[in-house]
Amino acid sequence: MSSRIYDCIAAIADVIEENKDFLTDLDREIGDADHGVNMARGFHAVKEKLPKDDPDIGAALKKTGMTLLSTVGGASGPLYGTAYMDAGKVAAGKTELTAEDFGEMLKAAIAGIQKRGKAERGEKTMLDSLIPAYETYTEKVAGGADLVTALEAACEEARKGIEFTKTIRATKGRASYLAERSIGHQDPGATSATLTLETILKFLKG
Ligand SMILES: Nc1ncnc2c1ncn2[C@@H]1O[C@H](COP(=O)(O)OP(=O)(O)OP(=O)(O)O)[C@@H](O)[C@H]1O
Ligand SMILES: [Mg+2]
Repeated sequence: MSSRIYDCIAAIADVIEENKDFLTDLDREIGDADHGVNMARGFHAVKEKLPKDDPDIGAALKKTGMTLLSTVGGASGPLYGTAYMDAGKVAAGKTELTAEDFGEMLKAAIAGIQKRGKAERGEKTMLDSLIPAYETYTEKVAGGADLVTALEAACEEARKGIEFTKTIRATKGRASYLAERSIGHQDPGATSATLTLETILKFLKG
């Protein structure tokens, strides 16, 4: 039988694969048409390499991050790679997560992305979905919500973050070359980040 963390990461891999063309088309509009292809290649490798029966969440995330780092390329490889590895450090040795644990993991993932990519909120990147999602998540948990309820609210904010990226110009990555012309297009990375959170939510809801 496979572990829950394996099944969750495999579910993310499947959603990325299903959305490969969609993500690539978004990146065609403001980038170099490789986001879906990059991510799908990385998660295909993750599914191949991840041990199916190890319940250690931290170990699985570390392996996922290392694999993404070495197979995805582009900007998103190191960024997502770091995010998974840093979230994995928080979850080292854990086989279950509390709502607080998940919040700490999200926080570490965002910090890793920012350390590596030097971007802030409002630059039309994955952070425009992840940061508002994290903020809402922690507010909900502080108010007593459980992981699923808080993540539900976080996903809503992540989707709003995608909409927000349509209204702003890119100042990081290749999309920044388009300057004003990047307005009107949604950011591919904000989209893949939102799909990731939504898949975790769906997985947890069973
Ligand atoms: N400095 C950064 N910080 C956070 N996210 C970033 C940064 N640069 C790019 N991104 C995210 O990466 C996504 C593009 O990923 P992709 O797999 O297409 O890599 P890429 O083609 O090398 O990227 P880019 O052309 O943006 O440098 C963007 O949509 C954006 O969300
Ligand atoms: Mg690209």
